[in-house]
Order: sequence, then structure tokens, then C-alpha cells
Amino acid sequence: MQILVLGSGGREHALVWKLAQSSLATKIYVAPGNGGTALEAVENVPLAVDDLKGLVAFAREKNIDLVVPGPELPLTLGVTDAMRAAGIACFGPDQYCARLEGSKAFAKQVMQRAHVPTAKCLIVKTLAEAHAAIDKLGAPLVVKADGLAAGKGVVVCQSLEEAHAQAEAMLGQHVFGHAGDVLVLEECLQGEEVSLLCFCDGKKAYALPSAQDHKAAFDNDQGPNTGGMGAYSPAPVLSCADGEHVAEETVQPVLDVLASDGHPFVGILYAGLMMTASGPKVLEYNVRFGDPECQPLLMRLDSDLVQAMLDCVQGTMSKERLVFSSQTALGIVLAAQGYPQSYERNLPIHGLDQVQKMAGVKVFHSGTRSDNGEIVSNGGRILCVTALGDDLQQAQSRAYAAIQVLEVPKSFYRRDIGNKGLKRLGA
Ligand code: AMP
Ligand code: GLY
Repeated sequence: MQILVLGSGGREHALVWKLAQSSLATKIYVAPGNGGTALEAVENVPLAVDDLKGLVAFAREKNIDLVVPGPELPLTLGVTDAMRAAGIACFGPDQYCARLEGSKAFAKQVMQRAHVPTAKCLIVKTLAEAHAAIDKLGAPLVVKADGLAAGKGVVVCQSLEEAHAQAEAMLGQHVFGHAGDVLVLEECLQGEEVSLLCFCDGKKAYALPSAQDHKAAFDNDQGPNTGGMGAYSPAPVLSCADGEHVAEETVQPVLDVLASDGHPFVGILYAGLMMTASGPKVLEYNVRFGDPECQPLLMRLDSDLVQAMLDCVQGTMSKERLVFSSQTALGIVLAAQGYPQSYERNLPIHGLDQVQKMAGVKVFHSGTRSDNGEIVSNGGRILCVTALGDDLQQAQSRAYAAIQVLEVPKSFYRRDIGNKGLKRLGA
């Protein structure tokens, strides 16, 4: 079976690494890939993830059997529909379903139709409506641009003044372009956040073990929001048994609504949850694996990933197909100084060979490239150093011992990945 993975981050490195372990995979391509994917038994292809025409032509030429999109962009552009039209299977939702991530207003409307627990909200299209809605909701509240805004379109506002100003910036000054033409104004929820990802075969949701991301750039959740600075699985805030139950309440009803709309959801549906005092509530949906959640999750997957994806595409998934190790996995992101704002590229990376020899450790590359055989940085998030352990404590110490071996100038990482989980375990 020939597989084409789309993307160039740590998530995609983990995907190709795990897919390559399957006896079903004969050849794996990744477009465009990174310095790490090039080190696996896969071929990097210089095609951008939004070049749908080029990707379909390539998939046809190489007789690709399965396409696996990593990031949301190709999904929201309709890569699944384009591949299907060419007779090629794709492990990802169609463009209609991808709006769950591409439009926060659409996601809220689906949640309301599906009776999924979520924050109260008002959806507005004009400044006058926005100002009235903000006063009605009261502070604190969350102002969200409807469309994709590079992770910057959500602002938690402590005061009404701040919320009015954000609405003015998004709707009046178009700081996020058309992504801010519609706003979702939402009640502010309190609690611990957790990621619940499900394999979906169009009919049913199969929950993976929980994971917890660390979105803020610096320790103790300080600093700007990033794509994610580290993750671990399982997260003690949501046990495996509870996760399955929560998926029944927060993901399954959405699959039912989408199927009744004539668009069965195939792929990964990821619910970002807030564990509030009155139960789990959905903050957002992503229509793909999370990065970096994917790295620790796939470190724990013992069963065949190609088979699981095929079963989802064919509508024949079953719980037995997903076997996870009872170990804990934890990944720490090493980022370039200045990320998520401006940062240098081409930073040299030393110590990779030494780290790969450490027990239970795998280094997934995010923003790297090969420069005449030398791996150098090529993005804000550079590496995700991931380790397995018998428990969270062991996974954490192994991952930190490993990252300390690496030498990358002008880089940083958080020192507290996993601490929330340890606190909850009373460690
Ligand atoms: P989103 O892209 O919707 O997940 O929002 C990004 C981040 O904003 C989330 O991970 C939360 O930390 C925060 N957030 C979003 N919605 C809410 C809410 N209703 N209450 C509190 N925090 C929120
Ligand atoms: N780590 C969060 C995300 O991938 O959206």
C-alpha cells in the first residue's frame, strides 16, 4: 500500500514514523516533510499542502492508495473531496465537515444542534450587534474570530472594555481579514483543559486516551499562546473510561448531526475540552491530530495505524483495532527564541544521535531541514523530544534528561511539562 502524508511538522514526523511500522505500508511519501521525516524510511516530496492540484496529480502518478492530511489547511480547502473525486482514499473529513475547525460559528451551530455541552455564546456580524452582545454576556468573556487566524483569533477578555476593543479590531479594523467578518462571543469557562481525540469512521467515534497540551510559551502558563509547547498522555484529569463516556457526549452527537446532513465524518475529530465544575464542555473542535499531542499519543499506540485509518475510511472501525500501551508518554517542544513571534532559522542542532540512543526516547522533528546532511532549524517549533515511562514521573524525567543532551543555540523549552498531571496525582 502506497501512502501520502501531508504536512511538515512534528505531528507529521510522528505519523510517518508510526505508519512506516505497518506491514501494510510498502512506500510512504510526505509532502513536503522536514529534516526528520527524511531520516525515516519515507520520501520527502516538494509539494505544498495547499497545492491541491499538484497533490492530486502526484497521488495519481504514484498510484497512492491512502492520503493522510496532517494539518487543517488542506482539509478546509477540500483535499479529501479532491482525492475522492480522483478515486483515492483520504483519512480526513470532507470540506463540509472541516468547517468544524474552519468556522467557529459553524462549530457552535453544530454543537447546538447536537446538544453538546459548551459555553453559552452569541454570534454577531456587525459592530452594533457585537457591542450589544458583549454587554449582555458580561465580563469575563471570550471574543473569537470565526475563521482560521493562525491561532491568534481567540482573546479571553477580563473586562467589557477589552472585549469591546477586540470586537472593534476584528470587525471594524479587520485585523484578521475575512476570518473576523463574523465573531463568536462566548461565556468564559473555568477549569483544566484537556484534549480528547477520536478516530471516526463516519458513524462512530472511538476515543483515544486523553492528552494535555501546554499552549502558553512559558512556564506556569505565562506568555503568548503558541501551537503547543509540550504534551503528555494520559492526562490524569480525564481517565480512559471517563474519556470514552465524554466522547459519547461531546463527539458522537456531532457525528450523528453531520451524517444526517449527508456528510459522514471520517478521520480524527479532536475535542478541546474544559473540565468545569459542572462537567466537561467543548471549547473547540479540530478536524485532525493535535501537534504536539499526536507525538505522545502515537508513542503509546501499539496497534497498526494504517489498518486503523483504512477501517475508518471503509466505515468498518472497531474498538479492538486501537490498542494503546498502559505507559505514559510525554513530549517537550524545543523552540527558537522569539517563537511564536519572530525568530532565527538555520540554527545548528547537536546531540541528536546521542539522544536517539536513550531508552524510551524518540525525537520528532518539527521545523527542521537537512542542509547537506546537517540538520538545522527551519521553524519556530524545532523538535519535540518525547519519552515513554511507566508513569508520568518517569516519562517526564526521561524526556527532560534527553532534551538536556541537545545543544541548540538561541532556543528554549518549558521546564514544567506534565506538572499539572503530577500535581493531580499527588506526586
Ligand atoms: P480555541 O481556539 O477556541 O480552543 O481557543 C484557544 C484557547 O482559548 C483555548 O485553548 C482556551 O485556553 C481559551 N478559550 C477558548 N474558549 C474559551 C472559553 N469559552 N472560556 C475560557 N477559555 C477559552
Ligand atoms: N496543540 C493544539 C492543536 O494542535 O491545535
